[in-house]
Parts: sequence; structure tokens; C-alpha cells
Amino acid sequence: MSLYSEIVVPRLVNLTCGTKGMQRWRERACAELTGVVVEIGFGSGTNVQHLPASVERLYAIEPSGVARKLAARRIDDSSVPIDHIGLDGEDIPLPDESCDSALCTFTLCTVPHPDIALRELLRVLKPGGTLHYLEHGLAPDASVAKWQHRIDPIERRIADGCLLTRDPVALIKMAGFETVWTRQRYVKGPKPWSYFSTGVARKIV
Ligand SMILES: C[S@@+](CC[C@H](N)C(=O)[O-])C[C@H]1O[C@@H](n2cnc3c(N)ncnc32)[C@H](O)[C@@H]1O
Repeated sequence: MSLYSEIVVPRLVNLTCGTKGMQRWRERACAELTGVVVEIGFGSGTNVQHLPASVERLYAIEPSGVARKLAARRIDDSSVPIDHIGLDGEDIPLPDESCDSALCTFTLCTVPHPDIALRELLRVLKPGGTLHYLEHGLAPDASVAKWQHRIDPIERRIADGCLLTRDPVALIKMAGFETVWTRQRYVKGPKPWSYFSTGVARKIV
């Protein structure tokens, strides 16, 4: 990992993904979390303040040491017990069917193999357990999508593997989750980065 990826990117993500406008989206994505939760791509803990009282414990998976340090104060201030338990959402160190909910925000764009990470989430979720997500992704308009494909190679380099052209809802469905609800729309900002998908999907019983 380069110094840029290790030191600069987690701080940029903490700033750009921690804005006020993002908080409403995060609040909605976290609102129905319950019981034991696993979050992949925990980052600097920008979702912690939105965890509802129904969450008993959160297991965090995050490879970046800088992001884990940036998260320390948020974890200390949280009434929910939070433990960093691993570095890779594609290899979650938890037993099968041990979690009630899973959370991922702006992470399916970045993990190297989102299909493997989603399979891992299915494995650790109890039957009927839910995945709560908030992601940016491939836009429905051909003109925006064309730009996303053009920008992708640069985005991947400057944003540490992030791609603009993944379709999170399709990936979640393909992994075998059933949709509980999903909402997709452009938010304020440059369109290639602004097509957001949020929702809840369930592990089929
Ligand atoms: C764009 S950031 C989003 C951080 C945070 N979820 C948020 O909403 O602000 C993507 C995160 O995924 C993490 N990540 C990258 N590869 C990963 C992997 N294989 N497993 C878990 N997390 C990963 C990065 O370190 C980074 O913290």
C-alpha cells in the first residue's frame, strides 16, 4: 500500500463522507439495524452516531490503520460496544449465522471482490438477517454512465480502488439477498459520484 493510500485517502474519506448532507442518508441506512451487527469497511466510524438503541454490539472490519485511529474517539463516545475484529470483508472472522444485521456504506465500490464480501455477509448473517446499505454506483443515464466508465481508471488510482461503475443493488441481488426496500436517486454534486442507492436486503430463510 502506498503512503498516499495509507495516510491521505482515509482522511479524505473521513472529510468527504462525513459531511452534514451525508448524515441524513446514514441515519436512514442505520435506522433498522438490530442485535449483533457486522460492518465491513468501517472506516473512521462515520456511522457510529447513527446506531439505534436496538443495536447490542458492532463488529468492525477495516483494513486501514489510519481509519481505525480516526474512529477511536467515535468508538469511545458510543454507547454501543464496538470491536475491530478483522481487516478484510472478504474473510470475516466470525462463525456462520452469528449476526442479526450487517452494514456497509460506500464500501461495495472499494472492496476488491464485492461478490465474495457479500457471500461472507450471507454466511455470518442468521437466516432472515438483514443487510443495510448506502452506496454510490452506476448511474441509469447513458451519458453519466459513459463518463463513469471514462473516469474509473483515474478514480481507482486516486480513491484507493474505488470504482464508479459498480451496481450495488444488482450485486446484492446476485449474491442471493432478497430486497426489503431500496431507494435510488441522484444527490447534490457531480453526477458520476452522486447516484446513491440505499436500502435493506434480507438473507432468505
Ligand atoms: C470509501 S471508504 C468508506 C468508509 C465508511 N464505510 C464510510 O461510509 O465513510 C471505503 C472503506 O472500505 C475499506 N476497505 C477497503 N478494502 C476493504 C476490504 N477488503 N474489506 C473491508 N473494508 C475494506 C477502506 O479501507 C475504506 O475504509
